[in-house]
Amino acid sequence: MLKGKLVSVRTMEAADLAEVKAINDDPGVRGNVVGWGWPNSAAEMERWHAGSQGGGTHRWIVEDDENRVIGVTGLWDVDWQSRNALTALKLGGVHDVRGRGLGTDAIKLVMAFAFYDVGLIRLHSSILTTNRASLKAYVDKCGWSVEGTSREHVWRHGKFVDLHQVGILKQDFDRLPDAEDYITLVTGRP
Ligand SMILES: CC(C)(COP(=O)(O)OP(=O)(O)OC[C@H]1O[C@@H](n2cnc3c(N)ncnc32)[C@H](O)[C@@H]1OP(=O)(O)O)[C@@H](O)C(=O)NCCC(=O)NCCS
Repeated sequence: MLKGKLVSVRTMEAADLAEVKAINDDPGVRGNVVGWGWPNSAAEMERWHAGSQGGGTHRWIVEDDENRVIGVTGLWDVDWQSRNALTALKLGGVHDVRGRGLGTDAIKLVMAFAFYDVGLIRLHSSILTTNRASLKAYVDKCGWSVEGTSREHVWRHGKFVDLHQVGILKQDFDRLPDAEDYITLVTGRP
């Protein structure tokens, strides 16, 4: 369990799957994330959960301060040689939680864990150029950089949308004014 300033992050359990499905099915999530999938049945969710945890895939639940399941995050494609991984974040479902700083807190917490516990030196992701909230959270508030743009890469909302490739190095994270707060939260070091 990782405890941030506003949210906590913990491993995903089978008991979370109904809430994870609600997050995946939330139109505010479905329309804004890069990956697209058919809506899943409960049985498909169970197969998905059993199938690929561990190895390079680490899916986590985000909880708010009332221990409600409000999101999904994690590390994917962990590359031990190059010490990088993909990360992503979805907040939503039955609770109205977006736009209150919870995403920024979760992103900083995952970065501190990835850089100061796991030992990675780079994280990467991709963001639809139409996703203003995600760009604001990752790039403006959490120190990520747009490293390139794939033109008309994703079919979303009835049209092709450009996709920003985004990334952050450990040294970029270290320059955030509150980096030390998050390193302390993750490592317990004073
Ligand atoms: C993207 C996401 C993780 C960000 O988490 P969050 O808790 O909403 O983010 P925060 O509140 O920390 O920061 C978002 C900022 O964008 C702003 N914002 C939200 N919608 C916006 C919009 N349409 N245009 C401009 N700014 C917007 C918020 O006001 C906030 O800025 P502020 O702190 O200056 O007020 C969350 O919104 C989410 O899960 N969205 C749906 C799924 C998704 O897009 N995932 C990311 C895929 S790359």
